[in-house]
Amino acid sequence: MKTKKLFKKYSLNTYARCGPTFVKGKGSWLWDDKGNRYLDLFPGWGVSILGHSHPKVAQVMGEQAKKLIHLPNNLYFKEQALLAEEIAKKSFPSKVFFANSGAEAVEGAIKFSRLFGKGKRYEIISMKNSFHGRTFGALSATAQKKYNEPFKPILPGFKVAEFNNFESFKKKVTPKTVAVILELIQGEGGINIANKGYIRKLKEFCKKKNILIIIDEVQTGMGRTAKLFCYQNYQLVPDLLILSKGLGAGVPISALVVNKEIADIIKPGMHASTFGGSPFVTKVSREVFKIIEKDKLLENVQEEGSYLLKRLYTFKEKFSFIKEVRGIGLMIGLELKIKSFPIFLECLKNKLVINSTHDNVLRIMPALNVNRLQLDKGIKILEGVLDKFKTE
Ligand SMILES: Cc1ncc(COP(=O)(O)O)c(C=O)c1O
Repeated sequence: MKTKKLFKKYSLNTYARCGPTFVKGKGSWLWDDKGNRYLDLFPGWGVSILGHSHPKVAQVMGEQAKKLIHLPNNLYFKEQALLAEEIAKKSFPSKVFFANSGAEAVEGAIKFSRLFGKGKRYEIISMKNSFHGRTFGALSATAQKKYNEPFKPILPGFKVAEFNNFESFKKKVTPKTVAVILELIQGEGGINIANKGYIRKLKEFCKKKNILIIIDEVQTGMGRTAKLFCYQNYQLVPDLLILSKGLGAGVPISALVVNKEIADIIKPGMHASTFGGSPFVTKVSREVFKIIEKDKLLENVQEEGSYLLKRLYTFKEKFSFIKEVRGIGLMIGLELKIKSFPIFLECLKNKLVINSTHDNVLRIMPALNVNRLQLDKGIKILEGVLDKFKTE
């Protein structure tokens, strides 16, 4: 049976799949089963930060697979310890828990925050239009009706403040507030960037009230914004940091990074994950850090991201249905006055993969090693597609 028919018959209908059937990828390119080549400027939904099937990553995968794939977390193995060291040294004084997905790491952050609150403080404030995942705690922190409405009631203890609005946040704080969780650039929410002044006020206030700051960098982490972690663009050190997506450049891994004060209250048995941080995924992830450094990818993100943003700004003049173009590094959104999904579909027809989010935002998140020629090609295809949606 053909792939699409198999999906229809046997896979649960949780995804709105579209486009051709892909069979192969290399760097920023993808091939379908008819041999057509596509430019992928949204590889792996932000996961494939080194592009598809990076040769060095594939090599390390092969070597590690032959050596040791999985061990339970009651035994010692060096791959996980070395990755924890790498993350702690590159972020802030911390200890690391490994899991498999963004949502799973968010769950850990919720649990450890509540532990920190000692049963007296348990409320967590999240931001309107945030996205933290689909498991129940993460879903309860996700302040977008379309995701959690069908599954109500959400968990108790979650409150929602307006993003980039310090007064709104302050109003939600009660003596029971233990933590605030936020993305510094809301991804699924439409590439909304936190203001520096807002973050400064939030930080000072939280410090005074002993409220933990959980920064969800599932999308923004691992060089996406030209800093290894997006919080490094701000004068901020999180209490808990959540990484996933690009952390494994394709292998399922997430990390919950917690400061020493929180680390000190965590005891064996309080939390666990069978697959979390296996020798296989942690070895691959360490290679990702090495490649980012060796290939100077943060510099590439800075240079190519500025170029892409500059070129896309000019679209705003040309197409009156573009409301705003915004982004940092290689995380860019075009907010439209019209629906973005048909434009995404038309790009796909024209062999360009980007993304449509939040109804009216086109999201572009290329691999960190994307080059100028590829960006120029993508910009040209996108421009041609946008031309078709012009009404005047
Ligand atoms: C900021 C953010 N947090 C959490 C998640 C959930 O990650 P996962 O789908 O791996 O559970 C996502 C997924 O897109 C995300 O963008």
